[in-house]
Amino acid sequence: MRDAIDLLGDTLSPGNNLTIVGDDAAAPIVRADRTSLTQILTNLLTNAAEALPSGAQINVAVYTVSISHSMAKSLSLSVGLYCRLTVEDNGTGIPAAEISKIFDPFFTTKPQGKGTGLGLSVVAGLAQSWGGTATVDSTEGMGTCFTIYLPVAEKHLQAAQ
Ligand SMILES: Nc1ncnc2c1ncn2[C@@H]1O[C@H](COP(=O)(O)OP(=O)(O)O)[C@@H](O)[C@H]1O
Ligand SMILES: [Mg+2]
Repeated sequence: MRDAIDLLGDTLSPGNNLTIVGDDAAAPIVRADRTSLTQILTNLLTNAAEALPSGAQINVAVYTVSISHSMAKSLSLSVGLYCRLTVEDNGTGIPAAEISKIFDPFFTTKPQGKGTGLGLSVVAGLAQSWGGTATVDSTEGMGTCFTIYLPVAEKHLQAAQ
């Protein structure tokens, strides 16, 4: 997961700052393949870069988190260990009226020829296909934070015990 992010730092337009933090020690190993991870990250980072005035900031964080009963319920996940990826920007933000449509296929606010509206539906679809989920939190004019939860692989759990 971590090296997939490092590789993608280069895809951002110049002038944007990208920071990456995470719990290297626990280096979460997720039940997902590299192509899916790359696709998730590319879509989120591209969106963030497109929503930013130049010189703005994108923060990426990867942590291992334990999802409790109450959280699992609200996220429609099973209880357990997850890799939580957050991609946060201080760009345009998303208007409250649009937030519920943001993961819909073909929902785009970008001009014809620029946006397909498929990026986030692919992100959500991939996360769900690996037993995880995608959520968004945004304030118009302040910024946006996408959170992806992916279950930590069974093999890795056994190794840690
Ligand atoms: N980081 C972000 N900041 C502000 N708006 C965003 C962000 N990410 C996505 N959006 C909004 O969600 C819409 C859908 O995103 P996406 O599915 O990737 O399609 P596309 O990028 O092709 O428009 C975008 O058109 C934009 O309005
Ligand atoms: Mg996009």
